[in-house]
Amino acid sequence: MTARIIDGKAIAQKVREELKGRIAQLREAGIVPGLDVIIVGENPASQVYVRNKATTSREIGIRSEVHALPAETPEDTLLRLIGELNRNPDVHGILVQLPLPAHIDSSKVLEAVDPAKDVDGFHLRNVGALVTGNKIFVPCTPNGVMRMLAEERLTVEGKDAVVVGRSNIVGKPMAFLLLEKGATVTICTSKTRNLAEHTRRADILVVATGRPRMITADMVKEGAVVIDVGINRLPDGKLVGDVDFESVKAKAGCLTPVPGGVGPMTIAMLLCNTVESAERVASASARGVKS
Ligand code: GUN
Repeated sequence: MTARIIDGKAIAQKVREELKGRIAQLREAGIVPGLDVIIVGENPASQVYVRNKATTSREIGIRSEVHALPAETPEDTLLRLIGELNRNPDVHGILVQLPLPAHIDSSKVLEAVDPAKDVDGFHLRNVGALVTGNKIFVPCTPNGVMRMLAEERLTVEGKDAVVVGRSNIVGKPMAFLLLEKGATVTICTSKTRNLAEHTRRADILVVATGRPRMITADMVKEGAVVIDVGINRLPDGKLVGDVDFESVKAKAGCLTPVPGGVGPMTIAMLLCNTVESAERVASASARGVKS
């Protein structure tokens, strides 16, 4: 079997086109969706991600501002900025790029963001809402994966899904989204014994480990849907995923490439969450509710 390659770039483009119409409607109602992104320090990968988030937002009509703070910024200063953005009615989305420098308590910072503006879906209230099936803001990468599965008309209900990776950003929310759609979900970690025995049972395999090409063809069921969330730069500069694309392509039914797979979807879903947040404000003000 040769896998159908899922084109994340094309799906992300479709999502952005849909959003342009919704943004035009908001602008007609006098609301310009606004996304404020905070980055602390000079992590080069984070700088690229943040720049892409702001540029792509602006391209489709979202106001976007980047707050670049030096690595030694005290936690208090960061919390004060978040407080200001929480109170600013022009701000519909606040994103604090992770990782933060070690002297800052990331949990405290994420809990300081107004849950109604938490477009990353990392606030405990939003995590709790997701886990109980009452989604408010869903973390962007797993939300992007679900959108890809839906766009490709791939059934989740009744399937065996295996998620490799247990991060708060991808693995855990991914597992809950698949569970909510009726999959039987296994979460594997770096400590899992006989990992291949689990992955070989997966109808849907989502990999988010940060280990280049760790999933090889012998670990994949014939015809499986394989979603590669990893983005790893090799010493020669090449970007590869957590899945060994060339060997798995010959066995999987569907496969996402790196780059051009899940990556573009993450930003598209961030824009989606920002527009949704602005729409909630618009409908609350139409109902005369002060937000
Ligand atoms: N660092 C890596 N991925 C993400 C993400 O989705 N959101 C934030 N805020 N930081 C990240």
